[in-house]
Amino acid sequence: MITPHINAKKSDFSNRVIMSGDPRRVRYISENFLKNAFQITNVRNMLGYTGYYKNILVSIMSHGMGIPSASIYVEELIKFYNVKKIIRVGTCGTTQNTIHLKDIVVAMGACTDSNFNRIKFENYDFSAIADFNLLLQAKTCADDMNLTIHIGNFFTTDIFYTHNKSFYNVLNRYKILGIDMETAGIYSIAAEYNVQALSLCSVSDHIILNKNLTPKEREFTFNNTIELALNTLIL
Ligand code: HPA
Repeated sequence: MITPHINAKKSDFSNRVIMSGDPRRVRYISENFLKNAFQITNVRNMLGYTGYYKNILVSIMSHGMGIPSASIYVEELIKFYNVKKIIRVGTCGTTQNTIHLKDIVVAMGACTDSNFNRIKFENYDFSAIADFNLLLQAKTCADDMNLTIHIGNFFTTDIFYTHNKSFYNVLNRYKILGIDMETAGIYSIAAEYNVQALSLCSVSDHIILNKNLTPKEREFTFNNTIELALNTLIL
């Protein structure tokens, strides 16, 4: 065992990793998009795989839900497995009428109600931003693939079932495009260790229109986002 939460050998991981919250989505990506993929870790069923995408070695790793869970896997990948490039492929909510279910939203930056970055950044506000080159490459790939993507601000929350629904109006006014539970933490850890990170999310919950994807749709309908992430990862 190399880390408390990952039982892969050090050489099992590529330094380019796609991360996703749901281990079943991770298995789906590896089974449907990679060649010669093999499972490299299964601690707590937080699955990880390595295989080839367009002849380039990549890994796919689960991170669970929320910053506390995601931060464990991101830190261990960076510190113990020498990972340099992380693209999160996730789902998000939105409050914007111009964005629809299944649209792809890219997090240029992420605000948060989490205390995680405050704790680490000595109680100042850390501006959690995407790696600029990865973001640029994602936009170039999306154009090449004829995919429309929305690029803008995110809000990373600790509370999926919020007690304060009126705050969604604030998020709408401040042009927050996506609401997720990990990006602000992943971006700050990437900054701390000088690695590249980017979050690409598909919209699973439209909060204003009160529309949601089913669990099956959340798991399997994001092929465009997955391909965009993989194409960006291998550049
Ligand atoms: N809120 C927070 N995280 C999410 C949501 C949401 O509506 N949808 C998917 N991840």
